[in-house]
Amino acid sequence: MIYRKFGRTDAMVSQLGFGAMRFPLTEPYDPTKIDEVKAAEMLHYAIDNGVNFIDSAYPYHRQTSEIFLGKALKNGYRRKVYLSTKLPVWLVKAKTDSLRYFDEQLQRLQVDQIDMYLLHSLGKNSWKTVNEYGILDFVDKILDAEKIRYAGFSYHDDLPLFKEIVDAYPWKFCLIHLNYVDDQYQAGLEGMEYAYKKGLAVMVMEPLRGGRLANNVPPEVLSIMQQSGRTQTPAEFALRWVLNRPEVSCVLSGMSTLEQVIANVSFAAEEHVNSLTEEDLQLYYQAKKFYHSKTKVSCSQCGYCQPCKQKIPISFILDLYNDACMYDAVKESSWAYRVFIKPENRGDQCTECGECEEKCPQKIPVSELIKEAHELLK
Ligand SMILES: NC(=O)c1ccc[n+]([C@@H]2O[C@H](COP(=O)([O-])OP(=O)(O)OC[C@H]3O[C@@H](n4cnc5c(N)ncnc54)[C@H](OP(=O)(O)O)[C@@H]3O)[C@@H](O)[C@H]2O)c1
Repeated sequence: MIYRKFGRTDAMVSQLGFGAMRFPLTEPYDPTKIDEVKAAEMLHYAIDNGVNFIDSAYPYHRQTSEIFLGKALKNGYRRKVYLSTKLPVWLVKAKTDSLRYFDEQLQRLQVDQIDMYLLHSLGKNSWKTVNEYGILDFVDKILDAEKIRYAGFSYHDDLPLFKEIVDAYPWKFCLIHLNYVDDQYQAGLEGMEYAYKKGLAVMVMEPLRGGRLANNVPPEVLSIMQQSGRTQTPAEFALRWVLNRPEVSCVLSGMSTLEQVIANVSFAAEEHVNSLTEEDLQLYYQAKKFYHSKTKVSCSQCGYCQPCKQKIPISFILDLYNDACMYDAVKESSWAYRVFIKPENRGDQCTECGECEEKCPQKIPVSELIKEAHELLK
């Protein structure tokens, strides 16, 4: 295993981290039913082979990921890893809530201290919550009390707010969505460089776009990959792009089978920093262009279209629509559409009032596309 510096701290983290969000299940559609035998085997294999960063969060596996880790990290495994979890900021409705959730997390994980603690999924709304309920003061307190070792945040919004948040607190690290297709999405490469220059360790999530860059890869992309002359799987192609960057401390992957763990651990045993040539990077650019050519809507997720009178989450639906078309992932997008959006807020409820279209900087014909999306995903 190759280890990298964790920002300006003394910690050295394995360049591959284990995301505790996609463990195998005993019942396919019930995330609470973690297959604990298989999941423990995967986790122990990863740790025995050098992975020292385990990343969970309060809601993962519908709140059972932390509980499972509490059990699986016994017998000396806890000492071998940096344990990371996240405060569910969106659930904080009063000043006392942060401590309540944090104490619950310590209990679930069966620990007295969490190594890396993140404010989960910061964006415009959750950043308001952080300021309204004094969550940064709370982070100061748990740092002073040595209940956590390093404070950070995970991020899902635009670049300007990302920079503002980086500058707002002496964070030790951040966790951003980054892969070769989404290099300019949310914080993106520019955000990565910004945070790195400010001394934060940069952790990466969704390096395989949640599996989309590893499974069902279209022949056009496979043929681009082959031009590199390397024998590699699509997963390795995608991981290599992220690990090529010296600014990245650790790539998290939410592995869901032992085979994936073995493959990714073996890949992370090699050095990848600055391993890509200009010609290689051109191939990634071509693959990215191919995926983007299948984009249905040029929505930049700026959110100017909101609020919608019908409470339709416009940019979220357009994102799911794009995902379905770009990655041939209709089943996955359709699942998210039905699970996360109530029937009364779905695309077919659009009244064509046109307000969103007036506000959209890209002049996207929202009412037409939102209905198209609904027809595909309903
Ligand atoms: N803080 C946040 O807001 C946030 C959001 C997202 C993620 N995260 C964290 O970041 C971690 C990483 O994100 P992610 O889970 O989306 O990572 P990812 O690596 O992009 O996706 C993981 C999926 O990729 C596939 N995969 C992994 N290794 C593979 C291999 N060698 N060959 C083939 N397929 C492979 C599997 O999909 P299949 O099972 O479909 O094969 C796996 O479930 C999460 O687990 C979580 O800890 C945090």
